[in-house]
Amino acid sequence: MDITKFAIPEIIFGRGSLNYAGQCALRLGAKKVLLVSDSGIEKAGWVQRLMDILKNEGVEWVYYPGVTSNPRDYEVEQGADFYRNNGADVIIAIGGGSAMDTAKGIAIIASNGGKIRDYEGANRVMRPLPPMVLITTTAGSGSDISQFCIITDVERAVKMSIITRTLVPNISIVDPLILQTKSETLIIQSAVDALAHAIEAYVSTIASPFTEMQSLKAIDLIIRNLPRAVETRSLDYLEKLSTASVAASMAFSNASLGAEHALAHSLGGHFDMRHGVIHPIMLTAVMRYNLESAETKFANIGRVILDRKIGSVRESALAGIEKLEEFFGTFNVARTLRELIDEEDKHFLEPICQMAVNDACNLTNPRPASWRELLHICREVW
Ligand SMILES: [Fe+2]
Repeated sequence: MDITKFAIPEIIFGRGSLNYAGQCALRLGAKKVLLVSDSGIEKAGWVQRLMDILKNEGVEWVYYPGVTSNPRDYEVEQGADFYRNNGADVIIAIGGGSAMDTAKGIAIIASNGGKIRDYEGANRVMRPLPPMVLITTTAGSGSDISQFCIITDVERAVKMSIITRTLVPNISIVDPLILQTKSETLIIQSAVDALAHAIEAYVSTIASPFTEMQSLKAIDLIIRNLPRAVETRSLDYLEKLSTASVAASMAFSNASLGAEHALAHSLGGHFDMRHGVIHPIMLTAVMRYNLESAETKFANIGRVILDRKIGSVRESALAGIEKLEEFFGTFNVARTLRELIDEEDKHFLEPICQMAVNDACNLTNPRPASWRELLHICREVW
């Protein structure tokens, strides 16, 4: 086996773990925290709850509410000015991928200067970042665990993947109680994102035994628990989705992703779509494209999805993909691109695929994919 590394934050997991946020900040030496979140989390009451927790621990904070879905370069740069102007020294974010990625972007600019686009790609952040505590409010993005940060470059209308070990936060807090205030749509979008992370990481060219076991566990947990979590909203099932998301995140943070996420970033950046809507459309099409390059691994995925072995390696792999298509079909989600994109905008698929081919995620796809091949996949799922 080649030399491999596995980086994860300290993870505080469980019902009520949000209560430890203040102590975490103090442990990291906080004198003044920059608190990052968005209006949705505020409305659900979680920002006030976190402020109360910080107050009880005697931690001072300043609040940056400038988070939008698909965070943009200028929002991150404004946040870094806010961090510096207020003399903050620790960053806490509470929210989904957007809030946590905004916090990471702020951390990069606050300590390394320049513009966020200077850091696009892998390992381009040189100086250490301010300490970070990331509190996820979804079970999917994995930004609280990962060394990834996705920010939209407004001028180029593309989502940049910024990947570097220093983006792994010091502490991740995963409190499944927060999931109880989430809509059914958001629970599904987050879970299918985690599923895509697990599957792409498992077949990645840099997967290791440490990531592979996390991937398979995450796939199993999501397939078995998402339908019941949506149906019953029971905390037991929601907690299983949180566990799955942490496992999938440990996998993809260290094994990276593949062509499906490269496409999801480029489509999402161009059309300002929510990230989670793309996977039920694109994931199985990319799996079929990749099949010949990772047949045994897709058979292993098939066995987990089906919970049994079916015939040959190829049969197990194909049966798993078919079952996954059936699984997506049981939710009220779009299954073709035409449901999300106007016919008159179809011509944008070509530049989108030319962009996707340069996304850092495409580097670890098990089967090399040119922009023409990506375009072929997009046309298949049109
Ligand atoms: Fe994702």
